[in-house]
Amino acid sequence: MEVTRDRAWETLTRYTTSEALLRHALAVEASVGWYARRLGGDEELWRAVALLHDFDYEIHPTLDEHPQDGAAILREEEWPEEVVESVLSHAEHLAMPRDTPLKKSLFACDELSGFVHACGLVRPTGLDGLEPKSVRKKLRQPSFAAGVHRDEVYAGAELLGLELDEHIRNVIEAMQPIAAELGLRTAETADVN
Ligand SMILES: [Fe+2]
Ligand SMILES: [Fe+2]
Repeated sequence: MEVTRDRAWETLTRYTTSEALLRHALAVEASVGWYARRLGGDEELWRAVALLHDFDYEIHPTLDEHPQDGAAILREEEWPEEVVESVLSHAEHLAMPRDTPLKKSLFACDELSGFVHACGLVRPTGLDGLEPKSVRKKLRQPSFAAGVHRDEVYAGAELLGLELDEHIRNVIEAMQPIAAELGLRTAETADVN
C-alpha cells in the first residue's frame, strides 16, 4: 500500500476520538515532518509514522498492550514493516534499536512536543515568543506537565546530536503553523484584556 499522511490520519481517527490524543498526534506529526525536511527524509512517510505512533492508545492504554498490540493491527491493515517497526521503536519498554533518522526523530519529538504544547497553553500568546530558555526552566519544575518524562526529552536531543535548546527551538517552530489546531492562542489572537 502507498503510505500517505491522509491514510495514516484515516487509521488514527478510526481508533481515536480523544481530542487530546489527536492533538498529540498532530503536534508530533508537525515536529517529525519538520525534521524530515531538515534531515532529508521522506516527509510523507515520516508524517504517517508520527500520526500512527499512538493510534492504538485509546484502545490499548496500558504498556502491556501499547504499542505492540497496535502493531498487529497495522500489519493486518498492510502498513509496510518500516512503518510498523518505526511505530514500535518509540516505546521505551520494548527497548528496540532507534537505528534510523526517522526513529530517532520520532522518539525525540514525542515527549518534547507534548511539553512545548503545555508551555504554549499557559501563555497568552501561545508559542509566539516562547524561548527555549523558559521551556528549559519549566522542565526543571517537576509539577509542571508532570506526565512528561524529562529523561526522554533529554535523551531525545542527545539521540539527534543536538543541543537541547536547538531541539526545543525546532519543535516550537514546527508547531507554530498549527497552533490553532492545537488549541493555542497566537500573538494575533491573544486576549489583550
Ligand atoms: Fe506511545
Ligand atoms: Fe506519543
